[in-house]
Amino acid sequence: MNIGNDLNLAAQMIREGKLVAFPTETVYGLGANAFDPYAVAAVFEAKKRPSFDPLIVHVASIEQMEALFEMPIHPIVKRLADSFWPGPLTLVHPKRSSVPDLVTSGLSTVAVRMPSHPVALELIRLAGVPIAAPSANRFGCLSPTTAAHVAKQLPGIDYVIDGGSASVGIESTVVAVRDNGVVILRNGVITRNDLAAVVTVFESDGERSELNLPAPGMLKSHYSPSKPLYLMTPGMVIPEGAGIIVRENAQKSRFLQHITVALSEQGDMAEMAVNLFACMHYMEDHPNVTHIYIEPVDAQGIGMAIMDRVSKAAYRYIGESGE
Ligand code: TXA
Ligand code: MG
Repeated sequence: MNIGNDLNLAAQMIREGKLVAFPTETVYGLGANAFDPYAVAAVFEAKKRPSFDPLIVHVASIEQMEALFEMPIHPIVKRLADSFWPGPLTLVHPKRSSVPDLVTSGLSTVAVRMPSHPVALELIRLAGVPIAAPSANRFGCLSPTTAAHVAKQLPGIDYVIDGGSASVGIESTVVAVRDNGVVILRNGVITRNDLAAVVTVFESDGERSELNLPAPGMLKSHYSPSKPLYLMTPGMVIPEGAGIIVRENAQKSRFLQHITVALSEQGDMAEMAVNLFACMHYMEDHPNVTHIYIEPVDAQGIGMAIMDRVSKAAYRYIGESGE
């Protein structure tokens, strides 16, 4: 695999139907030309992702978005794009028939986002095509926030653009556009309150895709490290060999016998989101850690998005004592 910074080469590879992992402000994406079904098929294959889980298409301009969404485009799209793009918000809207079914897993809608990372925007501009990209991890495993995380899980892909550490750290908020508002399909750092300042936010309507497949966000177990992960509860006895992820630096001194990292200096939620996956990767890679324990955070605002990821990462182990 090649890791580098050659955006012209990377854009050429995208046009040739190859796969390129690239940085976005949320997590690294595994990109392919969204209009090339063979390249899109290779994304599913590289990630071992089931074909029923649709991809997000990344654009660098409103014109590119208009080439993906069916006309007439709902006015709510413009309102949200004006407020939150470029940035970590993905909009689900009816698609044009020219968008390959493989991208959308046969759904009549497509998910589109304009990332704010300058490298992502430049890559899309140079490639001249929208880029379909899921997070650049193997299906169900930890999301990557650095190029090294990508290389660890997907050593076989053609090229990884190294753009440093992601500045948001968790995946975009995903919303489906409905008649008079939106439904949140996946929580992210753009919160329900942020959205509600601009549009009506409906409670999740429990609607599944037309194919009656798992709703997005969605599978209960996801984002998992390769070692057992447990949610910490007060007074819990933590066994030897455990790595502990605490909320803030000051908590580290409670666990001097263990390997410990903190999600933040002083409990700032956005900072915890930035560091969440990196802390889990650290514990996954640490040779002396056999189990991982994580302190829950307050599930409000960004904390809700964090706890979504944590509870899915820990899903297989919730309810077990860890010993
Ligand atoms: O921040 C992000 O969104 C990152 C970066 C790379 O942009 N991408 C990302 O992609 O997280 P992925 O594939 O890991 O998650 C995409 C989510 C999935 O849960 C998928 O089911 C949902 O978006 N999705 C995609 N298309 C959809 C559609 N047409 N309807 C409903 N959900 C959709
Ligand atoms: Mg993902």
